[in-house]
Amino acid sequence: MTCDKNPEKIKSMFEEIAVYYDKVNNLISFGTHYLIKYLCVKELDIKPRSMVVDLCCGTGDFTKLINKIYPRAKVIGLDFSPEMLKLAKEKNPKGVFLQADCTNIPFSEKEFQYATIGFGLRNIEDRQKALSEIYRILENDGYFLHLDFGNHNKLSNIFDLFVNLLCKICKNGSEHYQYLLKSKEEFPNPNELITEFEQQGFKFIKRKDFLFGTVSAQIMQKKPKELGIDAHLLKHL
Ligand SMILES: C[S@@+](CC[C@H](N)C(=O)[O-])C[C@H]1O[C@@H](n2cnc3c(N)ncnc32)[C@H](O)[C@@H]1O
Repeated sequence: MTCDKNPEKIKSMFEEIAVYYDKVNNLISFGTHYLIKYLCVKELDIKPRSMVVDLCCGTGDFTKLINKIYPRAKVIGLDFSPEMLKLAKEKNPKGVFLQADCTNIPFSEKEFQYATIGFGLRNIEDRQKALSEIYRILENDGYFLHLDFGNHNKLSNIFDLFVNLLCKICKNGSEHYQYLLKSKEEFPNPNELITEFEQQGFKFIKRKDFLFGTVSAQIMQKKPKELGIDAHLLKHL
């Protein structure tokens, strides 16, 4: 059976796990997730005065890193879970956060030069809608950084075993660990994702693999869509 990613269910799951989200992240990644996020943010090389949106910001790790590394950029963290946003604000009191849904982003076209999304897209039922929204709010040549689990290999099998063990130990919340494993298993691999991003109008720029590819980041760039034949002909009328 495929994962149920009904947005209301996903939202209430993150509301429920928000308080222990950071601790669990540290535990299951053996503390590596923050370094990986740091390296991704460094890779983006954000220009001063740029507008950046951190989608599915959760407890705000990306938002905080962007604020720290690029103090002259303006970053907004966006998430639909008030509990996650509350913790993000506590961790980064000067940060700017907004409660909103990634499939209906409340910004105008081409408002941002950069968009990041870490471990978020995997949880969105209508992934294509979220991608079309990211495309819409980015300016032409703007950058999109996506980070999530990558290839299934020996190391990711060990990770799965470890999470399965946690499932057994922690009776409370075991369904959340099961959701993590299932959503990870069903999620497209980095090459498939890059194809999906390209189909939305993004150009592939760079891929960075971490932990032998079990976690992978892709940097894409928005390219304007070519005019359809009708629109093209209209120009000559
Ligand atoms: C696994 S957490 C990732 C948090 C953070 N980016 C990180 O890397 O630690 C996923 C986050 O996505 C948010 N989320 C899931 N679907 C969303 C949607 N459709 N719109 C906005 N936020 C969403 C959840 O509330 C949750 O905070």
